[in-house]
Amino acid sequence: MSVTTQATSELPGELRELPGRALAPEALADLEMLLGGAFRPLIGFLGAADAATVAAAGRLADGTPWPVPITLELPDDADGAPRLVLNDPEGVPLALLTVTESRPGTHGRLVAGPVRTLKPPAHGPFRRLRRTPAEARAELGDGPVLALVARRPLHRRALGRLRHVAERLDARVLVLTVVAGARPELTTRAVLAARPELPPGTLVVPVPLRHADPVLDAYVAAAYGATHLLLTEESGTPEQVAGETPLKVVPAPAWVYDTAVEVWRPADRVEHDHAREELPEERVAELLDAGQELPDWFTPPAVARELRADRPPRSERGLTVFFTGLSGSGKSTLARGLAEAITDAGRTVTLLDGDVVRSLLSAGLTFSRADRDLNIRRIGYVAAEITRHGGVAICAPIAPYAATRDEVRAMVAAAGDFVLVHVATPLEVCERRDRKGLYAKARVGQIPDFTGISSPYEVPADADLVVDTSELTAEEAVARVLERLTEGGWVPARD
Ligand code: ADX
Repeated sequence: MSVTTQATSELPGELRELPGRALAPEALADLEMLLGGAFRPLIGFLGAADAATVAAAGRLADGTPWPVPITLELPDDADGAPRLVLNDPEGVPLALLTVTESRPGTHGRLVAGPVRTLKPPAHGPFRRLRRTPAEARAELGDGPVLALVARRPLHRRALGRLRHVAERLDARVLVLTVVAGARPELTTRAVLAARPELPPGTLVVPVPLRHADPVLDAYVAAAYGATHLLLTEESGTPEQVAGETPLKVVPAPAWVYDTAVEVWRPADRVEHDHAREELPEERVAELLDAGQELPDWFTPPAVARELRADRPPRSERGLTVFFTGLSGSGKSTLARGLAEAITDAGRTVTLLDGDVVRSLLSAGLTFSRADRDLNIRRIGYVAAEITRHGGVAICAPIAPYAATRDEVRAMVAAAGDFVLVHVATPLEVCERRDRKGLYAKARVGQIPDFTGISSPYEVPADADLVVDTSELTAEEAVARVLERLTEGGWVPARD
């Protein structure tokens, strides 16, 4: 039941006439798995009946075991078109979907049916390392193959265990590194950096496997030629894989660092007071944030370098400080003061002040909700790029809507750090100051949709810091923010 992976370089004329739909990253990931045969026996996206029996009983409607409902939601189904061309984000046609079913989904239409390759996917990281299941099987040959699905970097504990189990089974090792989700590159990079610690002949293959289900891992690993799957704490529990699986699932043995002999070993061979656990993820994050070394007993230095590159010390990491508050609350003054102080401390700062942004980047936008949202998204986009490049962006728009602030936080967080400062100066004070005379005009209706008067301001519930310039001088308020940034490690302390 495998799908054809034969690619046609030119779209035949009749296909060019069909409606095309661009896929979101998640759908693209599933599509690639389907087209390559990594989800065999599936040859397409599931319809309602199959999805329901899979969710309820782990079986397709015809009784074939299958663990996870693989469905496709599109914004629309092109008015019930019988065939759809599925495109990548650049509009390159990847696959032909023969629509067998279309039903309402959460946001659009769930369309089901078999898919056929038109062009091999070119999107996503580590293309040169990717293999189709057939290619991997050919490369791995006939003997036993132990697979591990890696969703995070492998440190000495995981590496030691993998070697140990592979030796016991006399198996070649296949590491399927997951390239899906927020940070698709790190795991693969870190696994490649750990190559010297992996058994000779280990095959590393990045897979866009976005679902986290140990039974699905077993299907995928089997499709890629594995005979065994190492089940780790990160991938699932033995109970989850208690049913039928297409290969043998081997639970990873408990493994600790023996401080007496300075090696990782099976926990049952290590005396209690010599046993050390792997560093928890939060501790690793703390060490990286502070720019401290990850200890050699925990991870190979080459892996540590990849982790550090992915999460640089806060003193070098990109940061967005986002001030929000009413007009006249003091945002611009604080933003300017903070920009000066951070520049003095030696970091590169870009100031994205509300009024200034509106004179160029957002010129022509009004104060309707839609235009305000667009204004904030533009600021967020620029701030996220500055952050990605290791700079400091200081934003100071009103940003009255919580949902839009959340969007900006998410955009920036994918690239670095985000600190939200609510400048909570009360409306009465802002209005009394009325530095630009706008409140007076708003009161008499000369300016419509004025924030705080005739347009809402949603007070943030998620501010990292709140300052009120009716209680603090501007210098004091700037000092508060600076102190927070210094404590957090983003700005070097003054001596
Ligand atoms: S936001 O809502 O889109 O975040 P932004 O910070 O860019 O607003 O612009 C706010 C500034 O525009 C105010 O400080 C004020 O000087 C000016 N302004 C003009 N009209 C309005 C209005 N209707 N509401 C709020 N601010 C306004």
